[in-house]
Amino acid sequence: MLVELDSDRIWHAQAPLSFAGISMKTRMSVVRLADGKLWIHSPIRLGPALRQSLDELGDVGYVCAPNRFHHLFVDQFMACYPQALLFVAPGLPKKRPAIRCNRILSNEPEPEWDGELDQLLFEGMPMLNEVVWLHRKSKSLILTDLCLYLKEDAAAVTRILMRVLGGYRTLGMSRTIRLMVKDRNKARASRDRILNWDFERVIVSHEHIVMWNGKDAVARALAWLG
Ligand SMILES: [Fe+2]
Repeated sequence: MLVELDSDRIWHAQAPLSFAGISMKTRMSVVRLADGKLWIHSPIRLGPALRQSLDELGDVGYVCAPNRFHHLFVDQFMACYPQALLFVAPGLPKKRPAIRCNRILSNEPEPEWDGELDQLLFEGMPMLNEVVWLHRKSKSLILTDLCLYLKEDAAAVTRILMRVLGGYRTLGMSRTIRLMVKDRNKARASRDRILNWDFERVIVSHEHIVMWNGKDAVARALAWLG
């Protein structure tokens, strides 16, 4: 279930997800940090097979809910891994007061992964408040909903919708996500910070990964910000 993306450093797993009549896969990413602990981005449902795969990789140390929407399986993860620390996007505790987080993610890397994962809050989009990472060693940019990339293997209704909304057959920011940009200057500054990072691969939650020339793909997807 877990697929290795870069030798012994970064893995991902996908699961089906349906919302508002749209079906698409969602992705969890896993990074093994230098101290051996696993860093979990955007948890998916934790079935026995996934749990066994994770346990074989190492100890789950850190769980991240990366924006105001991707938090569905955080409680299940924290129940299974009570020793882990939970980090959540700004604004999520207000949306879900019952969530018990250890820290709210900021615009700078947390000390637990500083030097391995660069981190920024994509600003100007308070409804989303997505936190973005760069895994330096594998040159992987890790996004959640900021951009998506669907292909012909997506569900039929989803394909039709995404042709209209954007993010079909190319990495894109869908029109629904574009509507969440409330401060274009701040969004542009965050985009420019991302484009200063050194990455090749772009991992998004929905659905395909850009394996090469990821920086060009992100620059095109966010060019509309000006
Ligand atoms: Fe999403």
